[in-house]
Amino acid sequence: MAVGIFDSGLGGLTVYDAVSKAMPDTAFSYFGDNAHAPYGVRDAEDVFDLTCRGVERLWEEGCDLVILACNTASAVALKRMQESWVPVETKRVLGVFVPMIEALTERQWGDNSPPREVAVKHVALFATPATVASRAFQRELAYRAIGVDVEAQPCGGVVDAIEEGDEILAEALVRSHVEALLRRMPKPEAAVLGCTHYPLMTATFQAALGPGVTVYSQADLVAASLADYLARHPNFVGSGTEAKLLTTGDPARVSNKATQFLRRRIAFEQA
Ligand code: DGL
Repeated sequence: MAVGIFDSGLGGLTVYDAVSKAMPDTAFSYFGDNAHAPYGVRDAEDVFDLTCRGVERLWEEGCDLVILACNTASAVALKRMQESWVPVETKRVLGVFVPMIEALTERQWGDNSPPREVAVKHVALFATPATVASRAFQRELAYRAIGVDVEAQPCGGVVDAIEEGDEILAEALVRSHVEALLRRMPKPEAAVLGCTHYPLMTATFQAALGPGVTVYSQADLVAASLADYLARHPNFVGSGTEAKLLTTGDPARVSNKATQFLRRRIAFEQA
């Protein structure tokens, strides 16, 4: 048994890396649906079906707890999965959205008090077209904070470029998406990289946004939130120590890219 980490492709590795470093004694298995990435241009039905299939594969590996390290799946499919699909007597599926919003709104995990004013007033959100269209970020934010202006930029093409390993294209796209957002909101105080692929481009986002903008690191926030969750639900920790990394894509190619991104040897096998 291990804790499962799911993503449409390589992006969830940013979360995988953070949680493995924060909890070195916990085993994490990974499922990357590289054959079907990007999810961010798919419709809700498609994202739901693909996410359920990936989560089932992690359940087969003994991962009773699965983290959707994919904002698109968290925004578009998670609510429906939790309400009508996950057998909650034995399994849990959690997303990556809420920890980030809790940090932005200065809340402790699971604080259900009414929404209140927070320090950050102007937030730039960068996410996939599906995540932006879902408005899930704004909805979750409104439960916790008042008076926060969110400007969202759908970053078409960035996930494809990262999955293809075309760094030059990815950088050019990030710069143009940041410019487009800054035309609508010239002075954001905070930027949220609302797609787990984007931290692989943090330096480009930060350079384009300028030094005055705080870029929130979703991976570290998710790691802190997961550590807290596992302390309260130790039955989901599992006793395994062997992590399996599965991909629906070409294992050799995905292993190479993953090794390059995380700067340590990562070996994927066929899902
Ligand atoms: N890493 C996924 C996310 O966080 C990327 C989605 C995609 O495949 O487009 O949204």
